[in-house]
Amino acid sequence: MRKGEKIFFASLAALAVVLVAYKGWIVASDTEEDPGIPFYTTADVLVQKQASQLIRDLKCRECHTLWGTRDMTASVPSPPLDGLGSLRTEGWFFDYFSAENPQDILPSRLKLKYRMPSYSHLDETDRKILASYMASLKVEDWYLEEVKKKEYEKLTGKTYKPTDH
Ligand code: HEC
Repeated sequence: MRKGEKIFFASLAALAVVLVAYKGWIVASDTEEDPGIPFYTTADVLVQKQASQLIRDLKCRECHTLWGTRDMTASVPSPPLDGLGSLRTEGWFFDYFSAENPQDILPSRLKLKYRMPSYSHLDETDRKILASYMASLKVEDWYLEEVKKKEYEKLTGKTYKPTDH
């Protein structure tokens, strides 16, 4: 390549970068307001503290995501815990944590070592704290709708209409 050509191509590339950046800026400033994180808890501060301690001690994050974080070295395909309290009741969680074999309540397709362990050996108080905290983990309705829509469209290949479901 001659020097003139090099400069020509360099300025072409620079122009492309500027155009992409400009377009990105327009798109970004044009979209709706960021709806924010869809997860929240209704638990009081004490329950939050006690439950967080238990969750740390019992290493739930070795398998589960909670508040968007999990143990980075783990790779168990477990369900995320965020927002679960919008789907299940405190009583359900208590029974689940108290079950000697949680897979009687929620069947598993995973290998034994990856399955949800039984926490029936914990004190009743601790199981109650965990259940109460899990039930307090809520998800905003708009997010739940979006998840339902995605799942529905993935499974059926049809367009989701909220009134059908
Ligand atoms: C060894 C990995 C592992 C650990 C540790 C673990 N879980 Fe699980 N958990 C799972 C798996 C996998 C499932 C899905 C059911 C199954 O396959 O047994 C599950 C299911 C659940 C569910 C039900 C999810 C639903 O769909 O409603 C809850 C609630 C839960 N776990 C909470 C916890 C809490 C709280 C802790 C810590 C006290 C914990 N888990 C520790 C692997 C784990």
